[in-house]
Amino acid sequence: MQWFYTGIVFLHVLSAVGSVGPLFLLFPIISRIQKGSSVEQTTLLSLFKWTTRFVMHAGHVLVVSGVILILIGPWPWYTSWVIVTLGLMMLSIVFLASGFSTVLNRFPKEPENRDILLKKLKNTSWRYIGLLVIMLYLMVVKPSFW
Ligand code: HEM
Repeated sequence: MQWFYTGIVFLHVLSAVGSVGPLFLLFPIISRIQKGSSVEQTTLLSLFKWTTRFVMHAGHVLVVSGVILILIGPWPWYTSWVIVTLGLMMLSIVFLASGFSTVLNRFPKEPENRDILLKKLKNTSWRYIGLLVIMLYLMVVKPSFW
């Protein structure tokens, strides 16, 4: 059983890399959209969407593998760092859904608000990275809050 647990921890860490790493691609994409022509903009927007979709799928693997670790591992679900992580995870889902998808859908409809929308995308990306880094800290340090 130990090999299975280790395998899931490995998958969990790999999906954590997949959930955080590609987010840094969003910044060069955003600054290219700011400078680019409208043709290039469509391509860049679809690259942006592809990246957020990749991050979302990696996030699903992260949650599922995390839940398996709780079910089969030594940490009960009521451990304080697990509960805080779960709470932050819910917040992140709201961020990805409302912060990215809604703004991306507004792009073709509101060309006059392009700069405001790009600023929103940039802020959402940083907030999301911040949340993931806090969760990474909780996972590695496993602090006890109560
Ligand atoms: C649903 C949310 C999550 C649950 C239930 C969960 C659960 C767990 C558990 C139980 C472990 C302990 C493995 C062990 O040391 O035996 C672990 C390790 C780890 N988790 Fe999560 N996790 C979640 C989300 C995340 C997130 C969002 C990240 C990163 C952004 C992350 C990154 C890590 C890392 C890097 C480790 C390895 C830490 C170490 O071995 O010291 N996890 N996770």
